[in-house]
Amino acid sequence: MSKKLRIGILGTGNIAKQFAAGVQRGYRCSLAAVGSRSAASATSFARQFGIGATHGSYDALLKDKAVDAIYISGPNSTHHEWTLKALRAGKHVLCEKPFALDAGQAEEMFDVAHAAGRVVMEAFMYLCHPQTAAVVDAIHRGQIGKLKLIRTAFCYCTNKIEGNIRFDRKLGGGALMDIGCYCVSLSRLLTGEEPAAIHAETLLHKTGVDELTTVSMRFPGGVQASFTCGMLTHADNTAHLSGDRGWIEVPWPWKPTPDKSGFTITQSIAPRQDQKSPAKPTAPSIPPRQTVNVPVEGDLFGIEADEFATAVLDAKPTKVPRAFTMGNMQVLDEIRRQIGLRFE
Ligand SMILES: NC(=O)c1ccc[n+]([C@@H]2O[C@H](COP(=O)([O-])OP(=O)(O)OC[C@H]3O[C@@H](n4cnc5c(N)ncnc54)[C@H](OP(=O)(O)O)[C@@H]3O)[C@@H](O)[C@H]2O)c1
Repeated sequence: MSKKLRIGILGTGNIAKQFAAGVQRGYRCSLAAVGSRSAASATSFARQFGIGATHGSYDALLKDKAVDAIYISGPNSTHHEWTLKALRAGKHVLCEKPFALDAGQAEEMFDVAHAAGRVVMEAFMYLCHPQTAAVVDAIHRGQIGKLKLIRTAFCYCTNKIEGNIRFDRKLGGGALMDIGCYCVSLSRLLTGEEPAAIHAETLLHKTGVDELTTVSMRFPGGVQASFTCGMLTHADNTAHLSGDRGWIEVPWPWKPTPDKSGFTITQSIAPRQDQKSPAKPTAPSIPPRQTVNVPVEGDLFGIEADEFATAVLDAKPTKVPRAFTMGNMQVLDEIRRQIGLRFE
């Protein structure tokens, strides 16, 4: 059997559990150790996922010689500190999104990784998923003609405010950092460009973080993109991509599951005012619609872990390259500047 990448999980919260379960369903990583601020939490996590080594502090985890790479799953404000420490301890790093609090932190994290000769990647799991590649491919093959408009949403409505890291300004909370970062990244991925203009509006929660943010972006090639992200609002959480010959609807752009993987392509038909006057009024024709199923073997987080392992073990480029993460962080910085969201 080929060598597996031995992962140490740093932090034992919600996403760490999803990631650990994904690693178990993947092929190229093993769960070597877990570290928590609480020894009891590390032990309980280890028991749940059958992990042999537990550490009652993050520093102890970084000293574990049986760990090749650290998965950083703490609040956004901890990503910079623990990524740097892990890299300096000789580990590769897979760090949860958003990679850092700002572009300055992100730049330093990549510089330190480069100097240490270690791989670092932002854990944007949907970017590793074949559905995302299939959508990009459909656009590039001209399935909807020239891409003109991108509309996305990523919202949820939570009851938990107290003790929720997403409502803590000092921990880098807020809807933009938590889920708006997905929408920014998809627009940049599909256009292959950085926005030339950005306009953001927000509703700040009394905790000081943004609870509902809407952004519009204009890209140099002419594409316009808009998105909404919110933590106290329901939305359809889809991606609509419009061109001059049709449009694509992605019902589950952010968290595709094996049975919900795919999208539809609808071909435009001539608008009624462009058609010859019918003798009597007719119902509008139904435009032809094609469903594209993307067969996927494996779990969203398992695919991500395997992609990261491929970058480390086979010395391949990461699925989320430095330039891509840096571009995202710069857009997030500008939006935060416009909506007055500060973390200090
Ligand atoms: N990719 C995705 O699909 C996805 C989904 C959700 C979240 N995320 C990202 O993952 C990160 C964590 O989110 P989560 O939902 O897992 O949060 P969570 O359930 O609140 O867990 C965060 C964990 O971070 C550790 N931690 C370290 N310092 C902390 C502090 N000052 N306050 C609270 N916890 C602290 C804790 O682990 P210990 O007690 O064990 O030290 C805690 O369990 C965020 O960066 C978020 O953006 C990604």
